[in-house]
Amino acid sequence: MESLRLRLHPLPLPLLILLLAILLGMGSIGEGEARSVMTGGVEELVERDPRGMPLRLAGRGQAVEEEEEEAAAGLSQTACPTKRLPYDPNPVRGQLDPTLYNPEDAMCLLRSLFIVSLDELRADPSFPPGFLRLAFHDCMTAGGGCDGSVLKPAELNSPANARLRRLSNITLRIQSRAAAMCLNVRPTLADTIAVAGDVANVLSGSPSGISMGLRLGRRDADPNLPGDNATTLPSPFDPFPVALEKMIRLGLTVEEATLFTVGGHSIGTSGCGAFRRRLSANISTCSSPPDRDLQPAYACQLSTICAQPAARADFDPATPLLLDTAIFRLLLEGKGLLTTDQDFFTNFTTRPFVLKYASLEGSLSFPTDFVAVYVKHLRIGINGPTSRPPASYCLTTAEQASSSSESSSSSFSSSSSDAASQIESLLLSTLQAVF
Ligand SMILES: *[C@@H]1O[C@H](CO)[C@@H](O)[C@H](O)[C@H]1NC(C)=O
Ligand SMILES: *[C@@H]1O[C@H](CO)[C@@H](O)[C@H](O)[C@H]1NC(C)=O
Ligand SMILES: *[C@@H]1O[C@H](CO)[C@@H](O)[C@H](O)[C@H]1NC(C)=O
Ligand SMILES: *[C@@H]1O[C@H](CO)[C@@H](O)[C@H](O)[C@H]1NC(C)=O
Repeated sequence: MESLRLRLHPLPLPLLILLLAILLGMGSIGEGEARSVMTGGVEELVERDPRGMPLRLAGRGQAVEEEEEEAAAGLSQTACPTKRLPYDPNPVRGQLDPTLYNPEDAMCLLRSLFIVSLDELRADPSFPPGFLRLAFHDCMTAGGGCDGSVLKPAELNSPANARLRRLSNITLRIQSRAAAMCLNVRPTLADTIAVAGDVANVLSGSPSGISMGLRLGRRDADPNLPGDNATTLPSPFDPFPVALEKMIRLGLTVEEATLFTVGGHSIGTSGCGAFRRRLSANISTCSSPPDRDLQPAYACQLSTICAQPAARADFDPATPLLLDTAIFRLLLEGKGLLTTDQDFFTNFTTRPFVLKYASLEGSLSFPTDFVAVYVKHLRIGINGPTSRPPASYCLTTAEQASSSSESSSSSFSSSSSDAASQIESLLLSTLQAVF
């Protein structure tokens, strides 16, 4: 409980309320006036239709009650409801596909993906920056946009994705745990990654993209294709115009590219290999550092860090766990870790945007500006010709088994009702403190 409070503390209160209102409100959007009962432990997180029959289960710790109520209602425990809409044979590229889920299932999955991701991502401080990167690397590859292809071996094995491989199994577990909360309707991997990245932002102090229109409806890549070409991702070794052009070509404006690239680096770490060439060859003296854009004293600190094997450095040592504008102010001091970050300040075209977000005014608009670009990039290129509707609307039995056998690093799986009610009572106590 204590660690949860600490991690969630930076969440601005009004935004938390907004988020809450949205999460709570979702229950009333589906047909049959489903509603959530958020009064107690996870046992209470059951949506009911107006006659009191359970519609969707919002937690996994209620097997006994579930069975009793299903016996009463005559439902099968693992039933996945029949999909009512036929898939659109020609979805509109760049737009969410409304035929991917029936609307009630989409709402249930959005909420369950959010709750499960919140639980999985708070297990390790390196997960939020990792999942923000995972979404970015899934979406910003020329090819299918956000299509889950980042987890295909060919794409995952590219050097750009080396640090993301360890997130693969966690992502699959989020997918199947979320499905289990919605009668085993399967969210696509692309939607799973999109919501997990949103939760990464929330855990780093940002508002949720759900309050800015983040919804589900991304088809996954054709399973017969190898994956997208990760060389279209910006690399720390790219000359600046090349790195910037990669972002522009995929649909961001110059300002959005500045905000998203630099802002995204306000959390997380980089391996020393990405910037070692900027440091002096002589660690003991730090003499004649080769990169004049890098502040000498800072270069010297980095040399010390990087003398350790397999060392990593924070992009933003001022506030490494917070999505905020400290990194923009660091660029003004010549403390950008990567040349591709520092160059946003050096270059006259992008400098005004760095100055904007380094200012007080920019700091205030940064959280919503950043999340707006995050939400925008979740639609770039989606549902194009290389995407496919899922082979099965429901999770397969094998996938259901993998979600329960896979060991979780977080506390939720071992005592699921505990952590769920922790999250829930955190939200409730926030509400009570305000009203
Ligand atoms: C992911 O899960 C598979 C199957 O359970 C396992 O073989 C593999 O080692 C896991 N990968 C990682 C990175 O944990
Ligand atoms: C990816 O793109 C690069 C640059 O266009 C090209 O050299 C490389 O062969 C491509 N790789 C694959 C696997 O298509
Ligand atoms: C700044 O970046 C733009 C866009 O990549 C490029 O065209 C321009 O040459 C750069 N200017 C300098 C001085 O590097
Ligand atoms: C580093 O600088 C010190 C002092 O000038 C010198 O003694 C040492 O040989 C240098 N080491 C390397 C690897 O150049």
